[in-house]
Amino acid sequence: MVIEYLDETDSTNEYLKRYLSSGEDRIVVAKRQTGGRGTKGRSFLSNEGGVYLSALTFYRDFPARDAFLIMARAAVAVCKTAEAFGLSPEIKWPNDVYLSGKKLAGILVENSLDGDRVKSSIVGIGLNVCNDLRELKSIAVSLSEAAGRTIPCEKARELLVENLQNEVSFDDYLERVRFLGREVMVTERGENYRAKAVKICADGRLEIEREGVNILLSAAEISLKI
Ligand code: BTN
Repeated sequence: MVIEYLDETDSTNEYLKRYLSSGEDRIVVAKRQTGGRGTKGRSFLSNEGGVYLSALTFYRDFPARDAFLIMARAAVAVCKTAEAFGLSPEIKWPNDVYLSGKKLAGILVENSLDGDRVKSSIVGIGLNVCNDLRELKSIAVSLSEAAGRTIPCEKARELLVENLQNEVSFDDYLERVRFLGREVMVTERGENYRAKAVKICADGRLEIEREGVNILLSAAEISLKI
């Protein structure tokens, strides 16, 4: 595994794309990004004091139907990093990590497929450690703010890199999802409705119960308020 440390780049996910034909697993971590990217085409605040990391992994025989595990593994690695500082994060399905109702980290996964197999994945993680989040005050939180003391960026970075290399089970993911069994607000094609969150399936879809009917939803189709 090659691990590269940069002061600045546009986006660590973009940076790794130049290695897509290398066949060698690689992690890149930047102190800041000038064009940090989020899911659904959004941008991602990437100022100094956060950890901006992407991991490129090549697979020999990884079924695309199990691709959710790639995302789950990253979310668990972020949670374990926060837990090492005595914090109790939770996963907001599918892959945001929250602390006290605010976003601690975002994850952007970009897979390259070959038929029904995942050939490689780029998993990008942005983790707030001690960065200035004043402009996102009501929605984002850092490890330092949550812990009530300054957490050194290097320490969080080191732990995250280590946790990402450890094996993770689907149960590790599920035990950090806390909204199951509760009522949630679903937005699906412009329509808002309340439903009970029942379970998360191994393929990553969320089962909800709406007016007595159970429905499977994929993260791409809906947004969720918990
Ligand atoms: C989201 O919450 O919408 C996902 C955010 C993902 C941000 C990380 S930071 C490292 C990597 N590089 C990027 O440009 N994005 C991801």
